[in-house]
Amino acid sequence: MKKTTYSFIVSFAALFILWGCQSKDTGSKNEELDYAVEQTTLLLDQSYKADKIPRTIDADGHLHWTRNGFDWTEGFFPGTCWYLYAYTKDEKWQKAAEHFQSKFESHRLMPFYHDLGFVFNCSYGNGYRITGNEHYKQVLIEAGNTLMTRFKPEIGCIKSWDVNRGWQSKRGWEYPVIIDNMMNLELLFELSNMTGDNKYKAVAIAHANTTMKNHFREDMSSYHVIDYDSITGEVRNRHTAQGYAHESEWARGQAWGIYGYTTCYRYTRDPKYLEQAEKIADYIINHPVLPGDKIPYWDYDAAKIPNEPRDASAAAITASALVELDGYSDKDYLSEAKLIIKNLTSDNYRAKIGTNHNFILMHSVGSIPHNNEIDVPLNYADYYYVEALLRLKDLEEAPKHELAQKH
Ligand code: GLY
Repeated sequence: MKKTTYSFIVSFAALFILWGCQSKDTGSKNEELDYAVEQTTLLLDQSYKADKIPRTIDADGHLHWTRNGFDWTEGFFPGTCWYLYAYTKDEKWQKAAEHFQSKFESHRLMPFYHDLGFVFNCSYGNGYRITGNEHYKQVLIEAGNTLMTRFKPEIGCIKSWDVNRGWQSKRGWEYPVIIDNMMNLELLFELSNMTGDNKYKAVAIAHANTTMKNHFREDMSSYHVIDYDSITGEVRNRHTAQGYAHESEWARGQAWGIYGYTTCYRYTRDPKYLEQAEKIADYIINHPVLPGDKIPYWDYDAAKIPNEPRDASAAAITASALVELDGYSDKDYLSEAKLIIKNLTSDNYRAKIGTNHNFILMHSVGSIPHNNEIDVPLNYADYYYVEALLRLKDLEEAPKHELAQKH
């Protein structure tokens, strides 16, 4: 019962207020976050010049922007700007976040993508939690309502991909659901809190429960894609799209799982989600193929390990999730989180100021099966790294009585 009374991360609103007060009132310094401010300022300058949202580096070594239509990564750069605003209280970051998120505001009504949670919760969601801006709330509600149209009660899941176009139409799937979709649930939980309407939370819970039943193997690794019969809800296929093989363990998928179930526990306090998050965390932390520096290969079963690319994005997502999970669990996940963050911060993964096209982290992988974004920086690796740093900072600066309750 070590942590049942501990009030860590009840909501991000509390965190932001705490961060804000600390940065402003005490002027507390943090080398990693100061670095993030300096490097991201350079990226921001480039982004204003192009008036585009940065995503990664392309195969020719040029800065690559999010595409004009819907891009699942478009919320992360404004999200990082919101986090740096929370840290610095410098209005430049608020203006930047507002400018770049406004570029995709109309996408809230696009019903073709499950990534609405990623896109809008990381941008407008963080913005709302920091500023309380009513317009942002409206945008979030509309994005959430669009996301809800992709839920089918007979299946118990939000559909991830439409199968009538693109590469997804060539796989023979009917109703594909990917583990990444766990990350869209936070928007729905938030909407129930914001509106008092539990329909959003009910869908999030149904999705989490169905995913818990069908996506996980006995060893707690997860499949990337579960394809359901769109009438009966029976599982038709257990596949991968971004992993090495159908039966392999795609590293970022494992990270989405631990983060997703930790989030479910934050909003429901249902012990089965805590247990699920702990089991996934234990499986990752103790994985025999996890390298000594804790930054995983892009897939734990990739054929040429140890000569396979690492995925710093998976490590950053895992680190952020572990900091939060540690606040709920009787076990110690903080030591592992700190180790991952320390290694990501080393010269092996963190770029020198002004290099790496001004992204923070090097060595992530988008999708090797699609021959796309291999050993590059990614805007979401930076987002979750900065989030992990802020969570850690908040924890380290929490009032002593809270820490006493925790340990
Ligand atoms: N689909 C999100 C990812 O690549 O992890």
